[in-house]
Amino acid sequence: MEKITMDDMVNVCKTYGYIYQGSDIYGGLANTWDYGPLGSKLKNNIKDSWRSFFIRQRMNAYEIDADILMNPKVWVASGHVSSFSDPLLDCKNCKTRHRADNLINDFDSNLHADGMSKEEMVKCIKEHNIPCPKCGKCDFTDIREFNLMFETNRGVIKDDKSIVYLRPENAQGEYVNYLNVKRTTRSNLPFSIGQIGKAFRNEITPGNFTFRTIEFEQMEYQTFCNPQDSDELYNYFKEYAKKYFISLGIPEDKLRYHDHEKLAHYAKAACDIEYLFPFGWGEVNGTHNRGDFDLTNHQKYSGEKMEYIDPVTNERYIPYIIESTVGVDRLVLAILFNSYEVEELEDGTTREVMHFLPSIAPYKVAVLPLIKKFHNDKALEIYKELTKYFDVLYDDAGSIGKRYRRCDVYGVPFVVTVDDNTINDNKITIRFRDTMEQITLDLNELKDYIQDKIVL
Ligand code: GAP
Repeated sequence: MEKITMDDMVNVCKTYGYIYQGSDIYGGLANTWDYGPLGSKLKNNIKDSWRSFFIRQRMNAYEIDADILMNPKVWVASGHVSSFSDPLLDCKNCKTRHRADNLINDFDSNLHADGMSKEEMVKCIKEHNIPCPKCGKCDFTDIREFNLMFETNRGVIKDDKSIVYLRPENAQGEYVNYLNVKRTTRSNLPFSIGQIGKAFRNEITPGNFTFRTIEFEQMEYQTFCNPQDSDELYNYFKEYAKKYFISLGIPEDKLRYHDHEKLAHYAKAACDIEYLFPFGWGEVNGTHNRGDFDLTNHQKYSGEKMEYIDPVTNERYIPYIIESTVGVDRLVLAILFNSYEVEELEDGTTREVMHFLPSIAPYKVAVLPLIKKFHNDKALEIYKELTKYFDVLYDDAGSIGKRYRRCDVYGVPFVVTVDDNTINDNKITIRFRDTMEQITLDLNELKDYIQDKIVL
């Protein structure tokens, strides 16, 4: 199979309804994308898989749903007002604006710009004669820091006092609720708070489809712990996140760890898990040892005591936080690349397939009447019954071969064909997407058969 490029994937997603350009009929808005009928189901299933892996299957783990708009003091305490910025420079020739670190990483990912100071980045760009991606010249302004937070105003008067921010990370919603969750769940340390939700960043650089967007979703997970346990938990969550990706069908050789040398303003240690996208390795997950940075600052700015008193030893300390964060949109993109195949068939034709694991496939099963005129009523009856349990696709349009192909690229793992045998003997045929093999099953066994194969 030929290598699938990013442009190929954009086309596949647009053609079949996974992802469309945002505000499409107006010509789009840079770095925004809308999930279509298939994409939104896939994304929701991936979010459910995270819920299962990080919340349901772990002890002392709680999900919350905090607001996007928060008291602006949160972002002063978190350091985002002063430090959440990108190093930007302009091309003097064509006047386009770029992130210095991206220029370097896109030129050669082994240069690792995230380990460099501003001065080192300028030097590196000059030394390697790194060209402007737009015009090809290497003639840039100095680097300036540009804050990535989107601002808006609340109330009727627009002034400095009315500024609120669209959250640039979910994590702070979990930190400001640390005391609430601890009290209402009567938890002792360690315990975890997770949340899935939108985050916003005023990214100015081209995004590689949904890899870098201005509005995106994060699945963030904070474990509050004794400082003594933090190194062990940090290593544990590095591995746990990798296991999560592997559980979704991503092979280990498409994943790698990248330990950070230069750390974000809040971190004591940080490591990404990267996936091998067509443009190179790209971060999908981050594990961070945030130390007591966040809770200490929230204590300072809010006046609320964050100190924990160990009920057994009476030891007092501000908990450390180990964060495990996953970008939903990046994970969806990785799964699309990992699943899509243009398969050469023995008869010389090709078929497009999405090999999603059944647990995350947008539709678990399709129901097709073999001949619409004769089998429609029975097929609709089966479809309606199955929709009580699963997302089911009903398709009666076109030849059976064409319908199988459509199901393949929609990633439907099981396709049920309803024919005379169904009407006369209660038997259905199931076709398997990946092998194209078929078996016959009693209709009464169908629901349990599918249920067993879609466990998260
Ligand atoms: N709370 C920590 C935090 O926000 P981050 O590494 O800045 O850390 C976490 O972001 C994850 O969010 C990243 O691993 C990535 O998957 C995703 N992410 C970050 N910026 C993004 C963007 N502009 N577009 C899409 N996903 C993004």
